[in-house]
Amino acid sequence: MSGPPLPMVIDALEASDKPVVAAIDGVALGGGCEVALGCHWRLASARSQVGLPEVNLGLLPGAGGTQRLPRLIGADPSVDFMCRGAPVKAAQAAKVGIFDEVVEAGDNAMVVQAAVNFAARQLNVDLATRRLCNGRARTTNADALAAKRKEYQKLRAGEAAPQAIITCIEAATKQDFRDGMNVEGMEFGKLFRGSQSKAMQYMFFAERQCFKIPGLESKPKPLNSAGIIGAGLMGGGIAMCCAEAGMKVVLLDVDQKNLERGMSVIKRNYARSVERKSKSQEQVDKLLANITAATSYDALSQCDIVVEAVFENMDLKKKIFATLDQVCKPGSVLASNTSYLNIDEIAGATKRPQDVIGCHFFSPANVMRLLENVRGPRTSPDTIATAMAFGSKLKKVTCLVGNCSGFIANRVMGVSGFGFLLHK
Ligand SMILES: NC(=O)c1ccc[n+]([C@@H]2O[C@H](COP(=O)([O-])OP(=O)(O)OC[C@H]3O[C@@H](n4cnc5c(N)ncnc54)[C@H](O)[C@@H]3O)[C@@H](O)[C@H]2O)c1
Repeated sequence: MSGPPLPMVIDALEASDKPVVAAIDGVALGGGCEVALGCHWRLASARSQVGLPEVNLGLLPGAGGTQRLPRLIGADPSVDFMCRGAPVKAAQAAKVGIFDEVVEAGDNAMVVQAAVNFAARQLNVDLATRRLCNGRARTTNADALAAKRKEYQKLRAGEAAPQAIITCIEAATKQDFRDGMNVEGMEFGKLFRGSQSKAMQYMFFAERQCFKIPGLESKPKPLNSAGIIGAGLMGGGIAMCCAEAGMKVVLLDVDQKNLERGMSVIKRNYARSVERKSKSQEQVDKLLANITAATSYDALSQCDIVVEAVFENMDLKKKIFATLDQVCKPGSVLASNTSYLNIDEIAGATKRPQDVIGCHFFSPANVMRLLENVRGPRTSPDTIATAMAFGSKLKKVTCLVGNCSGFIANRVMGVSGFGFLLHK
């Protein structure tokens, strides 16, 4: 790619003596957001989102974002915007002052037309008042940024990028734009050359690579309902994940007593979420209403996927899979959460080994991001595609692994555990 560097392009846009309105219809992240900040106004369709997610790659916005955003919306909200690195929806972005207008528009051309009309109404405005390079960023009080530093030392412990972002924002409150840009350039350089950003970039791309299965062309089957067998530590967490992904869940245990114990753990976990305000009572009520407790295997007959999470015992698992073969509708994915056992041997207990796969969650299953899908030699491409889609639906980092003792993560932990013992 050739041409002038992005900061120079943005400077030229900002310096233009004609009104420049950014027309956003879609997702303006990173450089796209920084270009928009160089425009004199920003207009977006209601479906748009905006964000500066560089922190997730161990970096900071390096094309003036750390200097223009605080000058637009103030220093303190800019810290959260850049240090969280999550995209923000158009309505919220307008509320904090990033977008000047949100339009209901059916397509791209309508947003552009709305921006042209908007620009025509601004002809008499002094553009100097619209250039974010003029002026300083506001902060609520002298200690506010120091408090944010502490907050992000906890929220993103050990990460260099959030602290570097706050340094840049501090510069935006105290120095003029050019000096602030120098601080941004220096901080960006340090992060870019450091090993942390390289590791985070590797992780970012590796996580996406996991979802791609070479040669897999099958389409996933529908995933509206899940059956979970075993309401213990893992089964309860998996049931929560499925309910949170909008699935109807049947949670089954061997008897009423075990079932009630499992359901009470789920209820307690959700009550804590309400206390911490991460979920509302109304949301929790809806989630719980989607989980049906059962002791009869017939309740699993219509489930699109069933995940078994009973004790780690081959005979017990085989017995359960033989029962699933009897009761589940044709094509239902039959999965085991086994940590170590042979998926093919479990599949052998059914007359449909092509539908059997491992879905190995980690504890606590409602929190941990990794899901290992264990393919047996007889698992069909349809089943693999559906299990991969299941992981995506549950917002897990999902990878397909081979059928061997401990699969990947437990083998790695086993090996590093041995290393640790030898070291001791
Ligand atoms: N605990 C972990 O950290 C972890 C992590 C990953 C995978 N796993 C695997 O998940 C599975 C479950 O582990 P756990 O820690 O949740 O066990 P657990 O002991 O907490 O729960 C097992 C549940 O299965 C129920 N159960 C037993 N027999 C049953 C039957 N015939 N029908 C229905 N329910 C029955 C028990 O009543 C109990 O509620 C195991 O295969 C384990 O290897 C565990």
